[in-house]
Amino acid sequence: MIINIGCDLVNIVRFKKSLQNKKFTDRIFHQTEIDYCKPKKDEASSLAARFAAKEAFAKALGSGIFAQGIGFSEIWIENAPNGKPTVRVSKKLETQLDSQGVTGWDVSLSHHVDYAMATVVMYSKGSNK
Ligand SMILES: CC(C)(COP(=O)(O)OP(=O)(O)OC[C@H]1O[C@@H](n2cnc3c(N)ncnc32)[C@H](O)[C@@H]1OP(=O)(O)O)[C@@H](O)C(=O)NCCC(=O)NCCS
Repeated sequence: MIINIGCDLVNIVRFKKSLQNKKFTDRIFHQTEIDYCKPKKDEASSLAARFAAKEAFAKALGSGIFAQGIGFSEIWIENAPNGKPTVRVSKKLETQLDSQGVTGWDVSLSHHVDYAMATVVMYSKGSNK
């Protein structure tokens, strides 16, 4: 099994400026993410962590998916009832991941004051030895 990791760090203050543009929000986020983050006291922090998760997922994959016609909203976070986040992907991306031998992944998010971060671990068939 091959294990790859990806991480990303977002400055929440700068990210808040991007969130003022509705086109940006609509293009980047899945409705599930908007619905989860909207009622939160600090909505921007959770959205910033989700943006970091999309970037971290792409880094773990390492094949430049956003340059290959996959949209940011095709990768999204869902939270279990206990709060644990999971990365979900569109059918189109799932097919691409299958063809690349990706078998699974996990994500962890954190946000505090000015920064939000995400780490993704991705599992694929094969061996990197
Ligand atoms: C859940 C917990 C780990 C969050 O840590 P925190 O330092 O308060 O906050 P952070 O900014 O670092 O992390 C927040 C993110 O943790 C993630 N998270 C929440 N519950 C989680 C869980 N059960 N397992 C993994 N990740 C979790 C979420 O993604 C959350 O961000 P989101 O609401 O925007 O999705 C912390 O409140 C805690 O330890 N709670 C009690 C014990 C517990 O349930 N632990 C589970 C993890 S071992």
